[in-house]
Amino acid sequence: MSLRYSSLALLWLAACPAEPVAVVDVGVIDGGFAADAGMIGAPVEAGRWPSDAGEVDAGAPDAGPTDAWINPDSPEGRGLTLYTEYCGFCHGASGEGYWADNANALANPEFLASATDFFLWASILDGRPGTPMSPWGQSHSGPLSEEDAWDLVAYIRLWQDLPSIDVEYMQISGDADSGQAVYERMQCGACHGADGEGVLAMSLNNPVFHQFASDGFIYHAIAKGRAPTTMPAYEDVLSEQEMQDLVAYIRTWSRPVVPPDDEQFEPDWTDHVMNEGGAHADFTPRVVEYEGAEFNDEFVPAQQVYDAMVAGQSFVLVDARVIPDYLIGHISGAVSVPFDSVEQATDVISRDRWVITYCGCPHAVSGRARAAFKRAGFERVAVLDEGYYYWTDQGWPACGGRERYCEE
Ligand code: HEC
Ligand code: HEC
Repeated sequence: MSLRYSSLALLWLAACPAEPVAVVDVGVIDGGFAADAGMIGAPVEAGRWPSDAGEVDAGAPDAGPTDAWINPDSPEGRGLTLYTEYCGFCHGASGEGYWADNANALANPEFLASATDFFLWASILDGRPGTPMSPWGQSHSGPLSEEDAWDLVAYIRLWQDLPSIDVEYMQISGDADSGQAVYERMQCGACHGADGEGVLAMSLNNPVFHQFASDGFIYHAIAKGRAPTTMPAYEDVLSEQEMQDLVAYIRTWSRPVVPPDDEQFEPDWTDHVMNEGGAHADFTPRVVEYEGAEFNDEFVPAQQVYDAMVAGQSFVLVDARVIPDYLIGHISGAVSVPFDSVEQATDVISRDRWVITYCGCPHAVSGRARAAFKRAGFERVAVLDEGYYYWTDQGWPACGGRERYCEE
């Protein structure tokens, strides 16, 4: 591992230092197949590294060895730039995946062989709402145009090393009830969740996934697996019929897609203070130790933020994700300042109060936003340590839509 790479690795540990992703032992599954922790999860470790380490260059992923040869004016070159800005800190600089929990390996050979350009393109634009995978498209008020998404597809295709196979027209006819029995027997839920909601691996129940994934794509993933990640290949363990039944069962999780709110949203930064008239909140960031060194001004526990909110104290709570995520759901009272537009907001945002940034991941884009505030001279700015999904898991006030505050 080069020095350059290892310092980035430390930086990314900061991004999402959740539990180790997939040091899973689902035991021996029927057929004598033991799931192997494989490489999945390697980058995300239980360690934690303050994102200050990255203030020099807030999180720009390392370009893989071949990237230097890409013409910056080609679709692949533009795709590389976009990938560096918006994707690498979760999916890895070389598409190896798992810098954020469940952010799959985009460079995986079986994945790229079975995913169509359209699947990739549409997945980028519409995301996986309700997961850390944002809907990046402008139709959701996100940053990427349709052209941008094609450029990303062109760049991602450079990683492909197996020939594409046509899975789109594969005829699948399975029985969902039998499929459910197989799903339970094979313990798919240990990784994907009992209802496909995603636990140690990506979800299988997202409406946008079902909209764009063909039966053949799902079948292929089950049959061939995704070596070297923890996704096993089941073709030697299950019969063809059992695998088709699994597809039928997974399809029962399909739901209608909520249409995007296509009126563009531009957050009003002039109105951004939480509990405007209240006494100024004061936060005590956690002391974080990493390799013997202490870092103490980075992460504020969610509980403190919640307590200040309900005590009516004033501070600035910044939702650092892209706008579509804010519209899907944000903490009551938060203002939307996407991480790539903090510079434009720093003239407007109050400097005499604490600024707390958050994201879903929980540290990647919130850490980048914090670094940008710091660069602009803000003194008291920290990241909400556990992130947005922890907040909603507590049942604390959050809602979708354009209004900052949620109705009681
Ligand atoms: C904050 C972390 C994060 C960022 C940033 C991010 N993703 Fe994702 N992405 C995820 C996660 C997590 C999933 C899996 C979601 C699920 O559970 O279904 C995912 C899923 C995907 C999928 C669908 C894969 C499949 O097989 O269903 C594609 C394609 C994808 N991401 C591409 C991108 C691209 C391209 C970018 C940059 C524009 C990007 N992602 C940015 C976290 C992220
Ligand atoms: C030990 C954990 C584990 C188990 C058990 C497991 N999977 Fe997976 N699965 C994964 C991981 C990790 C991925 C994503 C790999 C990647 O990065 O491409 C995945 C991907 C998939 C995908 C592709 C999803 C997409 O959006 O690209 C499907 C479909 C799938 N699994 C179905 C199943 C089924 C059905 C079972 C049970 C028969 C199962 N998995 C068991 C870990 C697991």
